[in-house]
Amino acid sequence: MKESSFAKTILCIGAGYVGGPTMAMIAYKCPQYKVMVVDINPSRIDQWNSDHLPIYEPGLDDIVKAARGRNLFFSTDIENAIRDAEIIFVSVNTPTKTYGVGAGMAADLQYWEKTARQIRDFSDSNKIIVEKSTLPVRTAQAMERILTSPGSHIRFDVLSNPEFLAEGTAVKDLEDPDRVLIGSRETPSGVKARNQLVEIYANWVPRDRLITSNIWSSELSKLVANAFLAQRISSINSISALCEKTEADVTEVALAIGMDSRIGNKFLNASIGFGGSCFEKDILNLVYLCRCNGLDEVANYWKGVIDINVYQKDRFVLEMLQSMFNTLSGKRICFYGFAFKADTGDTRQSPGIFIAKKLLEEKAELVISDPQALPNAKIDLEGLQGKIDYIEDPYEAASNCDAIAVITEWKLYAGLDYEKIYQSMNRPAFIFDGRNILDHQRLHSIGFNIYAIGKHPKTHF
Ligand code: UDX
Ligand code: ADP
Repeated sequence: MKESSFAKTILCIGAGYVGGPTMAMIAYKCPQYKVMVVDINPSRIDQWNSDHLPIYEPGLDDIVKAARGRNLFFSTDIENAIRDAEIIFVSVNTPTKTYGVGAGMAADLQYWEKTARQIRDFSDSNKIIVEKSTLPVRTAQAMERILTSPGSHIRFDVLSNPEFLAEGTAVKDLEDPDRVLIGSRETPSGVKARNQLVEIYANWVPRDRLITSNIWSSELSKLVANAFLAQRISSINSISALCEKTEADVTEVALAIGMDSRIGNKFLNASIGFGGSCFEKDILNLVYLCRCNGLDEVANYWKGVIDINVYQKDRFVLEMLQSMFNTLSGKRICFYGFAFKADTGDTRQSPGIFIAKKLLEEKAELVISDPQALPNAKIDLEGLQGKIDYIEDPYEAASNCDAIAVITEWKLYAGLDYEKIYQSMNRPAFIFDGRNILDHQRLHSIGFNIYAIGKHPKTHF
């Protein structure tokens, strides 16, 4: 039985980084709808129902608290939730495949397909299905095929509504998005379904930011948006290598080019490389799609974005090794940050994982510090050979270390008392600023040897 007090019942399958915040925002903005979020993982659902949400996202606690129990519900009862819902968002994980055909490149669609079959098996009325997970182009068509069982009277309209939120700013991105993209078939029922989704977002998003397209363009746009963003980072990172050889300064170059309004100043921060659950996965997906369509030149072009990212992480480790007299054995290196970016506890594909593994191979000892990501860091580095300590307090973490490596651009690291830190460290003391967030001149005058991305080193030798 549907609950009659709500104008609509919306369901999201998958209570992760995308599904959780997105549904919390819809529920918060639209008290007239019942919003249900389900997951196969009971502990994740318990966390969503507790005071300690499973993900750290500024502003999320407030909107969840405001809507939870009113019109936002978290549950593991997938079967009944599917039956009750008119609109079902699918937001399950689609990691890169690790086995068989397309391993290391194609998206692994096993969770997604299982969900499609569950929807088909438990539905007893027409439904709109919304793809939120990033999927290969033309997946909506596969979804339609799975959902359509011979002889069934139930109609499913599949829409693509890719998520463009970034972690750390998810609440802001959801509340005030640059655009919301909705892809549908141009059939009368496709357009009707699309309009229903438009009406949901129109509760708070200005109409001129709600854009529609055909379903394949929508699916492809998600991959291309992430590929373009990652490409900018690889572009500036490639230039950072050249800066280090030529005494140009990458921050000055980024400022100069970013003020050209045709280029723009966003995503030009040189770094140890991009991480996160999307960029690498989506580019690999794009590369695979190109290869499958016989477009090897196009595939190679985009693969280059990932190659530079690997190169950048390798370079960072090599710089540490060479500058610390070609041996890291027994040296204590403190990581300032482990999350793949600031304001999140997420460590998926964090450059920190790659760098930690390489340093351990060199027999360095590691101290990992991060205000949010230590629980995930422990999981990521579990079982590795070598000595690793996890210490949240940055002063305690750096004490008795030979070097600090800034992995994540947390604001707190720029505001520390580096005189005090210097006094507690072994000499010579090194800082490798993988994010260019510190005041290098000042740190150099304290006594540190400074190596920063895309800048000439400041040393005391
Ligand atoms: C990204 C997209 O921005 C978002 O639109 C999409 O929906 C999901 O993927 P996210 O992975 O959360 O979001 O983070 P993002 O802010 O894009 O950063 C990705 C990585 O690039 C991080 O490791 C970040 O530190 C790095 N980065 C970003 C840089 O190294 N330099 C920059 O200038 C910007
Ligand atoms: P994303 O960053 O795309 O949101 P996450 O891994 O954070 O990815 O979240 C995906 C969620 O989907 C996980 O919590 C996982 O347990 C859930 N999930 C995967 N398969 C199913 C399924 N068949 N039914 C319900 N939930 C699922």
